[in-house]
Amino acid sequence: MSDNQLDKKSQAWSALFSEPMSELVKRYTASVFFDQRLWRADISGSLAHAEMLAAQGILSADDLASIERGMAQITEDIAAGRFEWKLDLEDVHLNIEARLTQLVGDAGKRLHTGRSRNDQVATDVRLWLRDEIDAIQGLLQALQLALVDVAEKNAEVILPGFTHLQVAQPVSFGHHLLAYVEMFSRDAERLADVRKRVNRLPLGAAALAGTSYPLDRERVARTLAMDGVCQNSLDAVSDRDFAIEFTAAASLVMIHISRLSEELILWMSQSFGFIDLADRFCTGSSIMPQKKNPDVPELARGKTGRVVGHLMGLITLMKGQPLAYNKDNQEDKEPLFDTVDTLKDTLRIFAELAGGITVKPEAMERAALKGYATATDLADYLTKKGLPFRDAHEVVAHAVKTAIAKGVDLSQLSLPELQVFNPAVEADVFEVLSLRGSLNARNILGGTAPAQVRAQVARHRARLAS
Ligand code: ARG
Repeated sequence: MSDNQLDKKSQAWSALFSEPMSELVKRYTASVFFDQRLWRADISGSLAHAEMLAAQGILSADDLASIERGMAQITEDIAAGRFEWKLDLEDVHLNIEARLTQLVGDAGKRLHTGRSRNDQVATDVRLWLRDEIDAIQGLLQALQLALVDVAEKNAEVILPGFTHLQVAQPVSFGHHLLAYVEMFSRDAERLADVRKRVNRLPLGAAALAGTSYPLDRERVARTLAMDGVCQNSLDAVSDRDFAIEFTAAASLVMIHISRLSEELILWMSQSFGFIDLADRFCTGSSIMPQKKNPDVPELARGKTGRVVGHLMGLITLMKGQPLAYNKDNQEDKEPLFDTVDTLKDTLRIFAELAGGITVKPEAMERAALKGYATATDLADYLTKKGLPFRDAHEVVAHAVKTAIAKGVDLSQLSLPELQVFNPAVEADVFEVLSLRGSLNARNILGGTAPAQVRAQVARHRARLAS
């Protein structure tokens, strides 16, 4: 077939139509310039379908061989950037099918037996997304390992823990970082769970009602390494909940990245001065020569808005769609693709960025000494001496008030000064009032004592290695 004939034949429904589509409408309805990235999934799905058609005696062995030969050629051409994508052929599916027919003739036209683009596109997106989830899992793992490394090195480093962004209690910097490892490990669990529902096969649903050909859907699912078959044809072609829940899981990953970003930005500011970020993650200012800006975390915080926006877009896309397939669903791709791209780049860069953090332990400790971070320890100390906790709380509030008036830390009050507040105070109180004493005292599962931090580091390493 000549190219000209191919283009004329390109619209599978053209016999019914008495006038061509306007250029504007063509552009408006076409998806090929973004959905071409599904090409590998599209070809895998087609090959699995063709192989099954042949096994079921619906397609001859010769036709199957021709299809396989044609698809091998197309694969080579696309991979080499030689494939000519045509707007007139609307989307990735019609482009590949038309080229196949051009290469192998009638066998190419038989490929679409028992199939519709509706079940084809749903299959392609699922196959593509499944593989992307696997790639994202690898990146999430690398990020967790990078954070675990920094946490281990900083198990003994003390920074002020905040509530309401007010100094609350001293915590280990390693412990603080491991909080993010927990978040990312839940993100990984969530994605693994989403993957189960992504990895189900729509093919065989055809346009919406199933097909009269004796297809073996289970066989196609096995060939494509899918976990099962969508059990209702109407649902199979129409719902994009799998894309929505993926984007929701991706949004949570980004939210966690965004929280970490916010802390990195604060910590790097002159008012905190807790860390420095390697220059390769920062930029300068075109006007202020002294500036070094944490662009990467700022952008990641910004891109979080973009991914959450995609979630809103996708979920709104689904709202109000009657069964079964509607063209609205073509709009699922760009937000989904951009979510995957943004997430992968962000995870990659954050795994590197973790290694580019320089910790400034003295500044952290100085800040922890400022806010009466061991006041709770003094209350606990008095409680252990027999005072009811509520009374101890009150006693310590008075002590803090006095210390503030004198402009000193609790640990800088003398023993007689402290005994004024309660006679139960003894010399051993100064260990309790030290930052390190406070840290070491929280030697409980999930607590901030360095011993606990090291135990958690070991647990995470074992988990991430398996
Ligand atoms: N490009 C379309 C999409 O992304 C493929 C399915 C088209 N189906 C149809 N009935 N027009 O959804």
